[in-house]
This record gives sequence, structure tokens and C-alpha cells, in this order.
Amino acid sequence: MLKDEVLKILLSSGSHVSGQDISNKLGVSRTAVWKAVTALKNDGYDIESVNNKGYLLTKNKSILNEAEIETCMHLYDCKVFPKILYFNSIDSTNTYAKKAADLIPSDFLVVADTQTLGRGRLGRSWSSPSSTGIYMSLCIRPNISLEKASMITLITAMAICDAIEELYNISPLIKWPNDIVINSKKICGILTEMSCDMDGIKYIISGVGINVYDTEFPDDIKDTASSLLLETGTKTDRAKIISSAIYHFYEDLDTFMQTEDMSILKSKYESRLANIGREVMILDPKGEYPATALGIDETGALIVNANGKIKRIISGEVSV
Ligand code: BTN
Repeated sequence: MLKDEVLKILLSSGSHVSGQDISNKLGVSRTAVWKAVTALKNDGYDIESVNNKGYLLTKNKSILNEAEIETCMHLYDCKVFPKILYFNSIDSTNTYAKKAADLIPSDFLVVADTQTLGRGRLGRSWSSPSSTGIYMSLCIRPNISLEKASMITLITAMAICDAIEELYNISPLIKWPNDIVINSKKICGILTEMSCDMDGIKYIISGVGINVYDTEFPDDIKDTASSLLLETGTKTDRAKIISSAIYHFYEDLDTFMQTEDMSILKSKYESRLANIGREVMILDPKGEYPATALGIDETGALIVNANGKIKRIISGEVSV
């Protein structure tokens, strides 16, 4: 859409850009540029027009769209630029990504401003109000065997932590395997889904929900959930968080692919592990039991000491 192309030019320029320059760059008339600018203003952008100077965009932190994400991504030296599919509203970015994975051969990222049927782990729903959160699903196609797929979840969790640390200057922790907490409150959840056939993994979808600007939560999570805004008092662009997370994800994926396990990334993951050295409850489907978390092994399993017995936890949940 022309509007998106004009937005990308305005976003990547720190000063005024003349209507003539934009029309030359895009090969369209100045009237078309003016119409696109008017449409952007209707979307909520503050665009100043000054005679003889042109248009200047005053950044609006709460607006999210494909042009915002793409422009931010170009600020990073990303190893891979996934194709961006942005929706104002969608049922679930994971559900959409699963359908799109059969049609799009490359990596891609589905992002939505709101989800009407956001899905969480263990069949739960994921509250996804408009304008407050990040709801995104990255589809990748690593050439790894089936049993290694769960490690992608750990890599995703580390990438989100890296992005938050870079942009907010605080160190979030990971509640194994993949809840991200700040001050013991959950601010991000990850739902990894995949498809495989006889030849191995066809694709992995890493779905990420981050509470960014939320100030209220549904009753069932209001005591345990929080947002980046509530915990830090800072409002950061969602497009920046997304771009930083994608950059860090591909960095760590690269490292992971060297050994196809967590051996190189183990100490980095453990430095973020909220449960380490702590008494945790292993919520095993066969019955709960207490244990002390010791760390992870190279497969990403949680290693715990349960009454003197060292155990590998590969499924079930852990409470901090
Ligand atoms: C959890 O239960 O902690 C995981 C929550 C994952 C939510 C994200 S939001 C984007 C993507 N689309 C979904 O429907 N779910 C994931």
C-alpha cells in the first residue's frame, strides 16, 4: 500500500521530507503522497507539514503496523529478515501462522494488534486486548530432529529477555521453560507449536505474548501478571521490542545450530533462570513434588534435586 511506503520514508528520516522527494522516490504524484499523508494522520500519526520543507513525523509510540516493524528491523544487523504479516485483529497469530506455513516457504512473522482467540499453553486462553500487547508468531524451518524442537522455546525466551534488557535496562528472568517474569510477575508467555512429517520437522511456530502497556488484567491472572509499563514505568515502542527480539532470536539460533543443542547457550539461559537454587514444585501429571532446581542440561531439560535424587524434568510445569 502506498500509505505504508510513505510511512517507511517518514519513519526512517529524522527531518522534514518534501512531498516532491517522496513522489520521486515512489514514482507517484504529489497528490497521491498528500492523500497517503492524510490517511496516516487519520490512523493517529502526527505529521507536521511545513511550506518549502515538507513533512515531518512526530513518533507515536502506541501505533503498530508492518512499516513500523520493518523500519525498526532495518536498524538491526539481522541474520534473517522474516517476512512480516501484520493484522489489526486476528483470531490467533499462531493459528494463522500454521495455515500460512503451508503457503509461505520462507521464515515469516505474524503480528497482530489484538487477538480474538489468543491461545496459551495447556489449552488456556491468552488475553489479547488491543493496543497494549505484543502478539506475534515466528515461523522457522530449522533442519533439526524432532526431539530438539523444544529447545527453540528456550531460545525464544532468551531472545525476549535480551530485547527487554536492551530497551528497558532491567534483567527479566525465565521461569522454566519459558514464562518471563519481572519482580516475580509474568509479563510474557510462549506457545511453541510445530508440524512434522516422515522427513522431520516441517516448521516450528514460536508464539509470543508480551504484556507491554497493560494496566489491568482478567481476574484469574490479576495477582500473577504484570506488564513492562507497570514494572518499569517506561513506555517503549512495540515495534522496537519485536525487532530486537527477532534480532536476538536469530543470533542465538545461529549459536544453537552449531551444536544443535543448548551446550553453548546453557550458561546464558541459566543466568536468566528464576528457579535456580530455589525450591520449586514440580507439577507432574502423576503428582506434585518439591525439588531444588539446579539448572538445565544440554537438551534444555530442567535438572532438579528431589530429596537427594537428581532428576531431569522434560515436561509438566514448575512453579517458582
Ligand atoms: C502461555 O500460556 O504462557 C503462552 C501464551 C502464548 C500467547 C501467544 S500470543 C501470540 C501467539 N498466538 C496465540 O494464540 N498464542 C501465542
